[in-house]
Amino acid sequence: MQRTPCEDLQYLSGFANEFASQALPGSLPQGCNSPQQVPYGLYAEQLSGTAFTVPRHEQRRSWLYRIRPSALHPRFERLARQPLTAAGAVPTPNRLRWNPQPMPAEPTDFIDGWLPMAANAPADAPSGVSIYLYAANRSMQRAFFNADGELLLVPQQGRLRLVTELGVLELGPLEIAVVPRGMKFRVELPDGEARGYLAENHGASLRIPDLGPIGSNGLANPRDFLTPVAHYEDITGPVQLVQKYLGQLWGCELNHSPLDVVAWHGNNVPYKYDLRTFNTLGTVSYDHPDPSIFTVLTSPSSVPGMANIDFVIFPPRWMVAENTFRPPWFHRNLMNEFMGLIAGAYDAKAEGFLPGGASLHPCMSAHGPDAETCEKAIAAHLTPHKIDGTMAFMFETSQVLRPSQQAMSSPQLQDRYDQCWATLATTFNPQRS
Ligand SMILES: [Fe+2]
Repeated sequence: MQRTPCEDLQYLSGFANEFASQALPGSLPQGCNSPQQVPYGLYAEQLSGTAFTVPRHEQRRSWLYRIRPSALHPRFERLARQPLTAAGAVPTPNRLRWNPQPMPAEPTDFIDGWLPMAANAPADAPSGVSIYLYAANRSMQRAFFNADGELLLVPQQGRLRLVTELGVLELGPLEIAVVPRGMKFRVELPDGEARGYLAENHGASLRIPDLGPIGSNGLANPRDFLTPVAHYEDITGPVQLVQKYLGQLWGCELNHSPLDVVAWHGNNVPYKYDLRTFNTLGTVSYDHPDPSIFTVLTSPSSVPGMANIDFVIFPPRWMVAENTFRPPWFHRNLMNEFMGLIAGAYDAKAEGFLPGGASLHPCMSAHGPDAETCEKAIAAHLTPHKIDGTMAFMFETSQVLRPSQQAMSSPQLQDRYDQCWATLATTFNPQRS
């Protein structure tokens, strides 16, 4: 896997960078996006992820040079299955936590294996996010695209091989991938089964955050984001193409593989990122910064600094703060926090939050370390130590996340989550300073 910046194009700032790749020599047209005759008899097609006239730094579009235009498909028919929407349950202010979902017992591919967990907006809203878990035990024999949003994939168990229109991305736990809205892809499972988390972003595209006083380096560095090289399938024969459109799945049968792009350029691209390359920053004196210091990717809202969604990680890191309660403090936030655990243990919870599990702390719900963690932290002899072998993450949103019906009726929903704080002792003593 390698990044392939186009040497013939000018670099712009941030994600406005252009990338390009060609699977056959000379297949990428030069100087003209849509020439009268494309090399090798290919067709030119633009995939726009943003409106044409958004500011340049928001612009996402790619030019695809393919064997057949995407327009070559019959009518889509609705597939007979439950809608894939995470909206639906009665909103609850309660703190929620789920044990890991079991692997499916029946043959289940990536599309069939989505479990809606929460959403804060319908798919056709100009902002918002829907959150799912996925669990699958067979590779897709069909292709898929999501008209409802950009897809952030967070594997927790098992590798994924994403065969996309622009090439192949392979990733496993501790890596993430983002597939643009509308991009066709297939998910293969090199390990036979896989499980993880999905954020479906209906709003502004994800990007790395501004760094402010941090400066020009730090957090997730641009050079660690990888896009695929061109890879095409020149295959005839029946292939089902499925799309998710406003939460419903629709399908049609093609007589060819839709993953037939021979060359491409642009910035509306799938990409992957290894969370282990994150440059983790933190205090070297006392206290600790807000967890926004751990933001990997952000989708801004119309309010400056208030994210539509932040993807935040809690990676291995040294803890050195003096005279400080080192776990995450008790807090009540405007933002809504959906957390997952990829590996290891999360430093705010002694038990009950397991790899593959999840929690939801909605707007203004009070939470923080459980009683056992709190007691240990207050009594700890503070020396530098490393939190290691762990990776938790958070999808943090500014609009209220409403859990789905499926999430609220899931047998994995813990009914005694509140109890983890119930034994917090009252240690107040007016005689003690
Ligand atoms: Fe929190």
